[in-house]
Amino acid sequence: MSILILHGPNLNMLGRREKEHYGSGDQQELLRMLEERFPDLQFELFQSNHEGELVDRIHKAVDQEYAGVIVNFGAFTHTSVALRDALTLLPQDRIEVHLSNIHARESFRHTSLTGGVCRGMISGFGFYGYVMAVEALLQNR
Ligand code: DQA
Repeated sequence: MSILILHGPNLNMLGRREKEHYGSGDQQELLRMLEERFPDLQFELFQSNHEGELVDRIHKAVDQEYAGVIVNFGAFTHTSVALRDALTLLPQDRIEVHLSNIHARESFRHTSLTGGVCRGMISGFGFYGYVMAVEALLQNR
């Protein structure tokens, strides 16, 4: 069983950006943690700084066999109607994750355009949010 993780802009810089919000681990460490925690699952992480590339990757996923999709679109969360519309094409279960608590930060982060087309959203628990998202995907199968 495979789970697709979609990461938006600046998440390739995890471990080097605003550690007080996002922690000190990078994307490789996130993947390693998930693989250790869920040895029977495969994880595929796609990160892009470009909105259209993320839309294209979602379109590709429409016909792919994933047990679920975890999304953290970074700043595009708050702006992208295109990503929201693309997500509605996916037949797979979807969970949105944010490392930081977006409701405890600047008001422009309080709205998620993409979270409304996911089954649920987990925000503020760092990497552990991804663990919770995987548990939620497994529990729904
Ligand atoms: C983020 C929150 C967003 O507001 C921000 O733009 C990010 C990261 C998070 O994981 O907490 O890039 O999605």
